[in-house]
Amino acid sequence: ASARIVIDPAFEVGSIDRRLFGSFVEHLGRCVYDGIYEPGHPAADPDGFRTDVLDLVRELGVSTVRYPGGNFVSGYRWEDGIGPRDQRPKRLDLAWHSTETNEVGVHEFITWAKAAGVEPMMAINLGTRGVLDAIDLLEYANVPAGSALADQRVANGAAEPFDVRMWCLGNEMDGPWQLGHRSAEDYGKLASQTAKAMRQLDPSVELVACGSSNRRMPTFGSWEHTVLQHTYDDVDFISCHAYYEEHEGDLDSFLASGVDMDRFIESVVATADAVGAGLKSSKKINISFDEWNVWYNVRDKEKNTIRGIDNWPRAPRILEDVYSVTDAVVVGDLLISLLGHADRVRAASLAQLVNVIAPIMTEPGGPAWRQTTFYPFAETARRAVGSSLRLTLDSDSHDTDAYGEVATIAAAGTHDPASGTTSLFLVNRDHQASSSIEVDCAALPGVTVRSAVLIADDDRHAANTLEQRDRVTLSELTTCEIDGNQLTIELPPLSWAALTLA
Ligand code: AHR
Repeated sequence: ASARIVIDPAFEVGSIDRRLFGSFVEHLGRCVYDGIYEPGHPAADPDGFRTDVLDLVRELGVSTVRYPGGNFVSGYRWEDGIGPRDQRPKRLDLAWHSTETNEVGVHEFITWAKAAGVEPMMAINLGTRGVLDAIDLLEYANVPAGSALADQRVANGAAEPFDVRMWCLGNEMDGPWQLGHRSAEDYGKLASQTAKAMRQLDPSVELVACGSSNRRMPTFGSWEHTVLQHTYDDVDFISCHAYYEEHEGDLDSFLASGVDMDRFIESVVATADAVGAGLKSSKKINISFDEWNVWYNVRDKEKNTIRGIDNWPRAPRILEDVYSVTDAVVVGDLLISLLGHADRVRAASLAQLVNVIAPIMTEPGGPAWRQTTFYPFAETARRAVGSSLRLTLDSDSHDTDAYGEVATIAAAGTHDPASGTTSLFLVNRDHQASSSIEVDCAALPGVTVRSAVLIADDDRHAANTLEQRDRVTLSELTTCEIDGNQLTIELPPLSWAALTLA
């Protein structure tokens, strides 16, 4: 296939909020326990956090981390996780059929977030709890001192407030699997009341209302419309969640997952703007795409389901997807979609961070390593600085079962005036043949290719495992050259690439 791109820093989608490169730590499987936290590991710091994992989190370039769930939050009592560790209760986590020991709670998470250099983003329980618990947690977290809960935080060792800016009003409340699942009408009212109460306490918080759990939900669209009619003046964001997997060998559709994400984002923006128009409001609601990734959820459902009244394991090995080269290319494709909508997607979280559908894996007492998906995320986070550019993309297309005709080449561009660099992110969705891309760089006179990296492999199933931790890494993209104003790139089949020009 072939494609022609015109790149010009004068044409912007919008500035890129660093929160676009967020991730997610849920009390689920081995994300927290034996993931970020493993006291006794040779690399653990005095707080029990693995420094090898912290190093990889920094290398990944993660900006914000959403916590503590996910489905987990809808049954969570945050007070269980504060105070002396030996007095914290063990609880049954109904979402993942596990035992929650509460060794890690909000204090420990904030300590870890500081060590990782990330902004904490918290979700509150609107499944089994409500307004009172939301304002209690907010008082505990953000009030400097002088009230019962703020003083309790100080007594528990945190003299400074946690100062959490961004709060999710529940999690996936449209999903029948969610503890305390509600109708859009009921959730909209509860979210509005909770948001108003939270703002009475701390007007500066940024609030996220739950959108749909995915675009295929039967209530998708009407859910957003109803929820925003109740919450438009109270919240800043509506959430989107989306997970993709290869269904029954339909590789063409899987490789076009970014098309689904594009349609999802554009539908939610249209719905939010329609509600705003109806309310005659000049305010815009942005998107927090606070769960996205490849997840073999349908394929591995049974393997990841724990059952039994006497079987509630601590930190079980569930949702530990091993990602292939193909999955990494799809993650790159999804990042291109997010960048292309950077004006309205102002926050996003790769779900999740460690062990659970994660770019980083660990072995208890053993090493930590990068999955294939680590690379497109880290490279995009590092190179996509400044503004996202409105590219002119004229690509050959092909047919897919799930999304009809799609562009064979996906592309995003960014420009950073401060460093004078321009970056291009490309995916070749053709898994059989290489593709040729011509980029018109007339608006970037004299630029050269500073660096160009590639994810591609003769074996599209190749992955990194405990035994072979560096089987898949980035390689240099050598098949690109610039001649005058014309940049020519040859992309191998099923590949993702990032180029930085200066
Ligand atoms: O990330 C795994 C799960 O996916 C989260 O707990 C839930 O919010 C979503 O369904």
